[in-house]
Amino acid sequence: MSPQERIDDLINKINHASYEYYILDNPTLTDQEYDDYYKELLSLEEKYPELKRADSPTNRVGGDAVDKFDKVTHAHPMLSFDDIFNEEEIRAFDERIKKSVSNPTYSLEPKMDGLSGSLLYENGVLVRGATRGDGVVGEDITTNIKTIKSIPLRLTEPIDIEVRGEIYMSKEAFMKANEDRRNNNENEFANPRNAAAGSVRQLDSKITAKRNLDFMAYFIPNPEDYGLKTQSESLAYLRKLGFVTNYKLNGHAKNVEDILKYIEDLGKKRPDLPYNIDGVVLKVDDLNDEKVLGFTSRVPRWGIAYKFPAEEVLTVLREIKFTVGRTGKITPNAIFHPVHVDGSLVSKATLHNYDYCIEKDIRVGDVISIRKAGDVIPEVVEVKLDRRTDDVKDFVMIDRCPMCDTPLIRKDANHFCPNEHCPARKIEGLVHFVSRPAMNIDGLGDAIIEDFYNMGIIKRIEDIYNLKDKREDIIELEGFGNKSVDNLINSIETSKSNSVERLLFAIGIPGIGAKTAKVLAKKYLNLDNLMKASLEELTNIKDIGDILANSIVSYFSEPKNQELINNLKELGINMEYKGEKTINNPLISNKKFVITGTISFMGRNEIKELLEKYDGITVDSVSKKTDVVIVGEAPGSKYDKALELGIEIWNEEKFKEVIDSL
Ligand code: IVH
Repeated sequence: MSPQERIDDLINKINHASYEYYILDNPTLTDQEYDDYYKELLSLEEKYPELKRADSPTNRVGGDAVDKFDKVTHAHPMLSFDDIFNEEEIRAFDERIKKSVSNPTYSLEPKMDGLSGSLLYENGVLVRGATRGDGVVGEDITTNIKTIKSIPLRLTEPIDIEVRGEIYMSKEAFMKANEDRRNNNENEFANPRNAAAGSVRQLDSKITAKRNLDFMAYFIPNPEDYGLKTQSESLAYLRKLGFVTNYKLNGHAKNVEDILKYIEDLGKKRPDLPYNIDGVVLKVDDLNDEKVLGFTSRVPRWGIAYKFPAEEVLTVLREIKFTVGRTGKITPNAIFHPVHVDGSLVSKATLHNYDYCIEKDIRVGDVISIRKAGDVIPEVVEVKLDRRTDDVKDFVMIDRCPMCDTPLIRKDANHFCPNEHCPARKIEGLVHFVSRPAMNIDGLGDAIIEDFYNMGIIKRIEDIYNLKDKREDIIELEGFGNKSVDNLINSIETSKSNSVERLLFAIGIPGIGAKTAKVLAKKYLNLDNLMKASLEELTNIKDIGDILANSIVSYFSEPKNQELINNLKELGINMEYKGEKTINNPLISNKKFVITGTISFMGRNEIKELLEKYDGITVDSVSKKTDVVIVGEAPGSKYDKALELGIEIWNEEKFKEVIDSL
């Protein structure tokens, strides 16, 4: 056998073994056999690199890291469905469908909680994997996609096809990924969806490979090209081609009653599934009916996503713990018996302030219900007063700072520790400084900062940048090894070259959020310029009112803050803006834009970036304050509204003219 023949043979054997394992649930190779074939293939490919094939399973370990992802334009826009939340809306959806087609039936599928991905195969070989992006333009993540073991590198038929599905992380892989992150002193992922999104967009695909992502196929954008007549047939075809589909859970409905029953049954199975789902996707099954129903400007009319109600879980309040923020604000926090809520384990939630606690009448020992607000942050929904016993303890507001014992002062609903040297305020300031939207230093979690502060390793912001001289001391500490200290120091060094808006946000000028910091950085280009800006000048900037302007000027007039900036400068922290510079243009600058419909030559994000570059602002809805509405193909109701309000309209042609004139 020639090397080429042996390589072909090994690839066939290994890919077929994956098919048996993932699709048929029936592995026939032992782990040992698999490993032997794999090793042999690897060594042949090393010896004859020119013979390495795109569908070789050795691609699954990832490839060279990249600086950024290339953009790809989707052949068919990657849309998503409208969300609905209750039975009434399900009935309304069914009624709406019945107005256009007779006797519709529905394909019912678990709504996987991950992110959608598009896979392109040529001649049956995976040639491209892409994210959804803005639906029109996504990112090319082919190398990362190849690391996902449940994605076939070669199909069972040598066809050209695009397949869509969900990239997700199983509950087990999520626990493992967070365990690794804990061991490396990195912030844990909030939930499997964030973990999947973060992992699949790694510039270094070797990291993606370690995260054990999965893929569930559920959609072919042009099913008629393969002679398919229904969505159910599409799903069966996908499985035949070698994709993992949800064939055991997908269902079919003839009427609303069937749909409701399916939702109820799936809800019961939900806690025991190995991955998170957040609802049920309903699709009109007959592809001819789908054609008749078509699309609105945004979404398909032939499908909808029913979302399960946010899970509410009961637990017992163990303690109300007061924390001190970097501004001195005191926050009462509910510490409760840990519970799983919508896929993550939670044990605390903010109780905001004194007034909030009194209003809820919350007491230690109470049974409380918890839910995730906005999908991530846990909140206390309700105190179950009917389950209160005599053992509960009354809520008592503290009158002294829990850290420095300074008497608290009250401002409106909040209490504050007025002591500027309060260690809690210092620690929170440091935590904020290194946080992701600020200097984005990995490896310095809240607990580590607190320990380092208490041990005197980091007392001031400047100390973070001197940490590299304390390498030996840190390695001695529990939880640190050579690798984690190297990672930490690297992350600190990398942060030195951040564009200045991160620093501006990180130093914690009262009222300056990440967005305002960016506006200021773009406008002043460096910190020196901003420090010289007058009150009047600042007030004239759009989005900066009197209060913010005052806050900025007074911050920079304080000698201790000037000293901090100087010290950071000396430590080599970048003070310049590195992002896109804005250019003045009378057609765009300072105007508010709304985009509706599809612009054939440019994706949404690209348009937004372009307008931003010329200091234009894009907003989501049309109002009297909108200056221009850019109208592409199949515009939505925003177009009607613009006409109604007499707002300037740019069609594709006019928009193209403006771009050409720039
Ligand atoms: S079909 C045209 N099927 O939920 C829409 N989507 O709004 C094609 N999702 O963004 C998508 N499970 O990421 C479809 N079985 C399923 C799905 C599913 C999860 C996601 C998808 C999409 C959103 C639906």
